[in-house]
Amino acid sequence: MYNGVVFCRIVIFVGRDSDKKLTKTVRWRIILKMNKEIYILGIESSCDETAAAVVKNGREILSDVVLSQIDIHRLYGGVVPEIASRNHVEAVDKVVKKALKDAGVSLSDIDAVAVTYGAGLVGALLVGVSYAKGLAQSANKKLIAVNHIEGHICANYLTYDDLTPPYVCLLTSGGHTAVVNVVSYDEYDVVCSTVDDAVGEAFDKVARVLGLPYPGGPQIDALSQNGDPCFKFHSVVTSNGNFSYSGLKTAVINLLHNAEQRGEQINKADVAASFTVAAIDGLIDRLSREIDRNNAKTVAVAGGVGANSYLRRRLKEFENRGIRVCLPKLSLCGDNAAMIASRGYYMYLNDDFADLSLNACPTLKLRGEKPHR
Ligand code: KG4
Ligand code: ZN
Repeated sequence: MYNGVVFCRIVIFVGRDSDKKLTKTVRWRIILKMNKEIYILGIESSCDETAAAVVKNGREILSDVVLSQIDIHRLYGGVVPEIASRNHVEAVDKVVKKALKDAGVSLSDIDAVAVTYGAGLVGALLVGVSYAKGLAQSANKKLIAVNHIEGHICANYLTYDDLTPPYVCLLTSGGHTAVVNVVSYDEYDVVCSTVDDAVGEAFDKVARVLGLPYPGGPQIDALSQNGDPCFKFHSVVTSNGNFSYSGLKTAVINLLHNAEQRGEQINKADVAASFTVAAIDGLIDRLSREIDRNNAKTVAVAGGVGANSYLRRRLKEFENRGIRVCLPKLSLCGDNAAMIASRGYYMYLNDDFADLSLNACPTLKLRGEKPHR
């Protein structure tokens, strides 16, 4: 309490300075100097995982609860939005209570509630957002609205506690594919992105035509281990340096159909391995160009496809060029709430709070992302 009063006074004093950046920097320093521990409760419900976590000072995971609905949606070959929303409604309260219990804290110890408000399925997002608003209001806590993709990037801070911007991040999720320069904790420069399907989406669609269950990425990864990448596909990098995955998906479908029409047996493991090489090599080539262009010293990966074994191997090769390679723990590549809490911490330091007018934003873009012309 005493610290809080001192803290406020200093900020008000510094706040008279018109340089907002200085105010923020000083605020950060004051918090760090005061050695005040910040506990953020993260809540994530953008797709088919109901998750809650408590993270200390943006870096230390005290609890990380993820309740996956994959077994439910597998029956339908993909996520059914309405079913996802209903399951989030049933799970969210239990998951949050478990996260607090596992962390050994009570709601009164929490400094703010950070929740994913986009991008994702609107009904699924609304469950987390409504719950977080109710919780924050009733417990008199700050509310933080987190961009899911910015959360994925922060999974790296939970794996490497010394990692700080700037670095180049390869974003590879089920809905996004991009090369991003992480300029600071709050500034992202999107260098290039997909013009159609995301890489994770391509993995899921190709898995489906290969007769593999949802979600297809881990299935293709496992199948590829026994395959020879003997089929060659066009690069996924477009002439203007973005990505396109819909052509690759169609090429795999055509390959399978042609073989079927000729009555030829095709080795599915070879198809999976060939698709993986095409899907990932383009990302690596484009990332490599960006590393050279801005002379980057550190590279990181974010999103579900970051768990892919071939991608991780290819990224590790950058170490031969003296570049630091950050690969989040496998458990942090997919959707989780610890990454949302970590992102929430850096927004907390910036006084970047939401109010009760917060709504779900299913098509939310990454800051700095421009639409394709
Ligand atoms: O980031 P994420 O959990 O959800 C989104 O925010 O979209 O990414 C999910 C995507 C799915 O498309 C899934 O098939 C893919 O990540 N994925 C993988 C692997 N594990 C998950 N793709 C390739 N190899 C994997 N090992
Ligand atoms: Zn995600």
